[in-house]
Amino acid sequence: MRTHYCGEVTAAAIDQTVTLCGWVHRRRDHGGVIFIDLRDVRGNVQIVIDPDTAEAFKAAEEVRSEFVLQITGKVRARPAGTENAALPTGMIEVLAKEVEILNASLTPPFQIDDDNLNENIRLQYRYLDLRRAPMQHNMKLRYRVSKLMRDYLDANGFMEVETPVLNRSTPEGARDYLVPSRVHDGMFYALPQSPQLFKQLLMVAGFDRYFQFAKCFRDEDLRADRQPEFTQVDIETSFMGEDEIMAVVEGMIRDMMTKAQGIELPAQFPRMTYADAMRRYGSDKPDMRVTLEIVDVEDAMKDVAFKVFSGPANDPKCRVAALRIPGGAAMPRSEIDACTEFVKIYGAKGLAYIKVNDVTQLNETGLQSPIVKNLSEAALKAVMERTGAQNGDLIFFGADKTKIVTDALGALRLKVGHEKGHVDGRTWAPLWVVDFPMFEFNEDEGRWDALHHPFTAPKDGHEDLLATDPGACLSKAYDMVLNGWEVGGGSVRIHKQDVQDKVFAALNISAEERQEKFGFLLEALQYGAPPHGGLAFGLDRLVTLMTGADSIRDVIAFPKTQRASCLMTNAPNVVDEKQLRELHIKLRNVGVADKVA
Ligand code: AMO
Ligand code: AMP
Repeated sequence: MRTHYCGEVTAAAIDQTVTLCGWVHRRRDHGGVIFIDLRDVRGNVQIVIDPDTAEAFKAAEEVRSEFVLQITGKVRARPAGTENAALPTGMIEVLAKEVEILNASLTPPFQIDDDNLNENIRLQYRYLDLRRAPMQHNMKLRYRVSKLMRDYLDANGFMEVETPVLNRSTPEGARDYLVPSRVHDGMFYALPQSPQLFKQLLMVAGFDRYFQFAKCFRDEDLRADRQPEFTQVDIETSFMGEDEIMAVVEGMIRDMMTKAQGIELPAQFPRMTYADAMRRYGSDKPDMRVTLEIVDVEDAMKDVAFKVFSGPANDPKCRVAALRIPGGAAMPRSEIDACTEFVKIYGAKGLAYIKVNDVTQLNETGLQSPIVKNLSEAALKAVMERTGAQNGDLIFFGADKTKIVTDALGALRLKVGHEKGHVDGRTWAPLWVVDFPMFEFNEDEGRWDALHHPFTAPKDGHEDLLATDPGACLSKAYDMVLNGWEVGGGSVRIHKQDVQDKVFAALNISAEERQEKFGFLLEALQYGAPPHGGLAFGLDRLVTLMTGADSIRDVIAFPKTQRASCLMTNAPNVVDEKQLRELHIKLRNVGVADKVA
């Protein structure tokens, strides 16, 4: 139906007759002459319709926004002074001979070039939203990113294998989406939170290097970087250790980002231990572009008169730490109060601070703060030295349970760092976080939970800690962090039955429960399982970072809202009684049952 794409008609086609198809992006009536910006997937081109071509002109007069047209005409140079160098087609225009309306359009609920739209209306009319240039860009980049990663994996001997979507529950720790079985009364499939167990079985099956662009489903609280269904670039390998796995997948990210956007990442991504990340940056996914750092000061606060500090300083479950803001003494009271309010989100009860006027005077003259009189000179000296305080700085303090202080100062570091420009100027800051603990203590349930999942291998030499000191036991797990986002995570797995048993024992998972939940995997591991490991990237997150979008919804063609619904199709919805009966389901909530169609 066409000879060219709209966005690809250039000066090379001058004097040629072309046929184009596309949507009416804009129509302008210029006293007798009609101009149409015709848009297709590759861009826009300017069409001119002259009253001399009577039939074409008549059609063009009927045309409205988003009508679909087929236009035949002659390419000519734009008149001098009307060129638009910013557009690939900006030097030419097409003088129409024939204009055919292939389809009309209702008046769209919003202008396709409007960049200030309410997200709900965009999601309701997603097929129109996807016509907008930023969304076209995002979806094309997403495709390019996947293609480049597939190419890399293929070139490196990885093979894609599909794994089932109707499953037993997988152990990633989020809530499952369940699918009721019609054939098995009262039974349910779980949608995969990840293909974790299947990819390990593929290693037992000898496939050596596996990947899959896998849809994963997790029923968790949604945020800007989380969707109930999302895509993992899931990878597993045999006979490779941590360093080799990290090197090969790091190579994939580097190669992809260079080819997709000319981004140059360091030849080797820096590595940081989980312990350091939490201590110095208050996060297991630190944004390394922010230059502020948290320092511990509890040892200096054990004997001070200020109980808010000395109490936690003497409690092993607590932490007392400081965050220096260079030049922060200029912050007005209102901003400090806003920071104090901000840290309350993380459970902090307050946010003590010191304004450093003269670092040589460790008293109320040199240091401006309501707490200085209750801190010893030795304590103040330690704080100034450790934070590297200079005149004009502000020092914030957190004193509470370790988690509260870490979370609060970690979040404050990001907020103040970005707001006050304490950043190092890098556009991309990749990082590996390594040496994660095997377990984290679940205070509510009074037991140890796997931090990653129960198949993660302990670090060499840490096997004995599984029984003696689970909290100190580190794992062969690693996360890739990019600009403060966890973009990927994985681990070397346990391939030996005795180690797996010890991990289950530490997690207090009974023999019956092991058998019931993971019996098939445990059995498979006994049939010559090779040493193996891998990781999974969050494709949506990677693309979000590369497009600079605010939310992962902007890189997913048909995403769900924060309440996990689709505003276009209205999923989820009620189903009719017959369907429920076939599935052996009776709704408990009468209010909902009434809604059944
Ligand atoms: P993990 O749970 O860390 O590991 O998931 C891997 C990556 O998937 C992305 N991700 C998400 N993206 C969008 N929305 C979500 N709700 C969401 N949840 C996770 C993140 C994350 O880094 N089986 C293991 C991997 C392995 O060990 O090989 C796993 O699923 O970017
Ligand atoms: P107060 O003695 O409660 O008036 O607090 C004095 C200062 O300490 C105020 O600036 C409070 O914001 C701050 N503060 C109170 N509790 C904490 C805490 N747990 N951690 C850090 N600062 C705190």
